[in-house]
Amino acid sequence: MLVLGMMSGTSLDGIDLALLDTDGEEKITTGASGFFAYQPSDRDILRAALLCADGLPTDILTSRAAWPTPLIAAETLITQRHFEAARDFLAQEKRQPQLIGFHGQTLTHRPDEAMTLQIGDGAALAAQLHIDVIGDFRSADMRAGGQGAPLVPLFHAALIGPLEAPLGVVNLGGIANVTYLSKDGAILAFDTGPANALLDDWMVQNTDHAYDANGALAAQGQVDEAALAALMQHDYFAKAPPKSLDRLDFDLAPVAHLSAADGAATLTAFSAQALAAGLAQCPQQPSRLILCGGGRHNASLCQHISRVSGCAVVLCDDLGWAGDALEAQAFAWLAARSLRGLPLSLPQTTGARQPVTGGVLFKA
Ligand SMILES: Nc1ncnc2c1ncn2[C@@H]1O[C@H](COP(=O)(O)OP(=O)(O)O)[C@@H](O)[C@H]1O
Ligand SMILES: [Mg+2]
Repeated sequence: MLVLGMMSGTSLDGIDLALLDTDGEEKITTGASGFFAYQPSDRDILRAALLCADGLPTDILTSRAAWPTPLIAAETLITQRHFEAARDFLAQEKRQPQLIGFHGQTLTHRPDEAMTLQIGDGAALAAQLHIDVIGDFRSADMRAGGQGAPLVPLFHAALIGPLEAPLGVVNLGGIANVTYLSKDGAILAFDTGPANALLDDWMVQNTDHAYDANGALAAQGQVDEAALAALMQHDYFAKAPPKSLDRLDFDLAPVAHLSAADGAATLTAFSAQALAAGLAQCPQQPSRLILCGGGRHNASLCQHISRVSGCAVVLCDDLGWAGDALEAQAFAWLAARSLRGLPLSLPQTTGARQPVTGGVLFKA
């Protein structure tokens, strides 16, 4: 079936869209992809909702009727922007999808409390677009004892096919996650640390830019080793995988005293060092790392990763993958799997007790 995947990640940059012809298994034919950027005012609304949600107890977050205004405003915005994004994107396409995989926007992620919140009204989106929508991809995994994240690993494994193992596929989104694939086909996946989110926050607070384009600012700065060591003190790195992160699990306090450039350099080094710490928790050192997600456009980050990972690093584009659309493709593929009742996660990718399907269908 033809499926549209839509992903709005923790970077809050916008919505990635991708069409996929797929059976939710090995048949994967990629189609057009696109991007719908959020306006700065949209991002302000989303940031306010993130901070608001962070301070709320789980029982309020799980009861929509109890939500304060910033959360309602953010959800209305997310639904509306996804409607506009899909409408504009599909207006250019001859073939219309029969299903949409709608990730929504994560506001808070609390694996220790078995709660994760992706906002966005799937039922409204289905009604507005006249296309069935699958949303709420993560809750079922958590009900089965899993982290609810990461969910892209099974798609990575499906794409890899018979490539040389052991290898790691790294998604450099707001948060970084790795999918480790061994020679015998075994898989292990988990979040490794921040990729862009913390650095983006630093850029917003210290410069006039939303992100460090090509890593240019980091390239002008010096890594502050003491601040880097302080960042690496976080107890997340000692936890055994599978494990996952909330966007706000790390904060900028250890770099607060640095100049804009030194802070950017140190945070960039931190994302790479955190990834290396994660790779050290894999059963074997991968021989090759495949970098995906927006962070692969950051040359400083890629250089740090090459240096500290000890792996040969390639960009996923070199394998013919659409690096910016990969996660949207993943949620199209996962939507097709959801419709067919196939697993979206495994004990080795999220810590769920058994392979579990997930997603909720909203009929048009
Ligand atoms: N040219 C670039 N140079 C440096 N960083 C970039 C560039 N393009 C994108 N990014 C980073 O990638 C992020 C978006 O990555 P993305 O994969 O969409 O993450 P998410 O899934 O969390 O939204 C941006 O916020 C930015 O930090
Ligand atoms: Mg994004």
